[in-house]
Amino acid sequence: MGSTDKTIKKTRALRTKILLITVVIILFIIVSTLLTLQCYFPRPIAVQDIKVSRSDTTLIKRGAYLVNNVAACNQCHAPRDWGTFSAPVIAGREGEGEYTPGVEELPGKFYPSNITPHNLGNWSDGEIYRVLTSGITKDGDPLFQFMPYDAYGKMTTNDVKAVIAYLRTMTSINKESHESKIDFPLNLIMRTFDRKPNPTAPEVIKTEVQRGGYLVSIAECRACHTPMNKGQFIDSLRFSGTKEFVLPTGGHVYSANLTPHESGLKSWTEEAFVARFKAHKDRNSLGKVEKNGYNTPMPWSMYAQMDEKDLKAIFKYLKTLKPINTSGKPRFTPNI
Ligand code: HEC
Ligand code: HEC
Repeated sequence: MGSTDKTIKKTRALRTKILLITVVIILFIIVSTLLTLQCYFPRPIAVQDIKVSRSDTTLIKRGAYLVNNVAACNQCHAPRDWGTFSAPVIAGREGEGEYTPGVEELPGKFYPSNITPHNLGNWSDGEIYRVLTSGITKDGDPLFQFMPYDAYGKMTTNDVKAVIAYLRTMTSINKESHESKIDFPLNLIMRTFDRKPNPTAPEVIKTEVQRGGYLVSIAECRACHTPMNKGQFIDSLRFSGTKEFVLPTGGHVYSANLTPHESGLKSWTEEAFVARFKAHKDRNSLGKVEKNGYNTPMPWSMYAQMDEKDLKAIFKYLKTLKPINTSGKPRFTPNI
């Protein structure tokens, strides 16, 4: 064998070795990253030692209002009657939890949990506080942001306590919840999300506009009314709507532009805004939806019970937003 052959063989062997070592290093990096995400994230958020009164009727009433009419928890946490306009909750099943079928594109399968005492009865007040404001369960598992814990993390501490006080009074429903399944790699990436709650100080909710802004933020109107790109809200298009929803009754509906542009709320009066919500107050007048008929995931019947002064404050806040043009965008397209 010539010496050139030997050199070629040697170089080949060396190349194979380098390749192998590189593969091993890359595998090592992948495995250790996965393990780190799995074992060390989410960063622990301590369970606070808080006590919520079970008999303070003012607090429970405030909680009922937030749960049923502002945050409208049952838009996700109860089965809804899609055959009726805006899909009101099926009476008597409040808080039972359910999988909300294909209403919007989501990165996985989500099963909103049972939030009645059947599930939360053995959680401490601090544990419920943590899951609502940080999205970390009793067992330390992280929830995906579809459960709007970042919005609830901005509630005043008193409002979160009010929600907890009310949850304790809900009728217990004996039903197990499925576990949500989030697509890879988001199931790991979401472990790194910032989960530190950032409660609003009551002092900064003074003016009507500030109160409106606070209500919009804790109701998470943004979730449906701000377009998203790859799971992130597009800040420059805040509240301009146009987000697409697949309706279980057939067809697609697109959220409305809530900014003060001609294509949004510019020409609306405060009275018309309030009236639009109040029109859905009587459940029996919501109207049946035929296949492919106009329908919406916006829980109008739940918001309809909001105080008139709160609706007015929301309107005043929306009027302060940057106007965005969405002319020519559809509102509803039936299936053909
Ligand atoms: C937009 C839909 C949505 C809204 C609105 C919503 N949730 Fe959730 N919630 C979920 C989903 C989905 C889960 C389960 C998430 C998961 O498993 O990753 C969840 C989980 C929870 C859990 C955890 C229970 C457990 O066993 O781990 C609690 C408690 C909870 N929600 C309470 C509330 C309350 C109270 C409100 C209103 C103030 C609310 N949620 C509003 C979707 C929602
Ligand atoms: C689950 C998604 C969802 C949530 C949450 C939601 N909306 Fe909507 N909203 C829609 C969709 C879709 C439409 C368009 C269809 C319709 O008429 O309901 C709409 C329509 C509207 C309209 C009617 C505007 C018009 O031009 O006719 C107003 C006003 C409105 N939303 C305000 C709000 C406010 C304020 C909040 C928070 C308190 C909110 N929405 C929360 C999805 C949502």
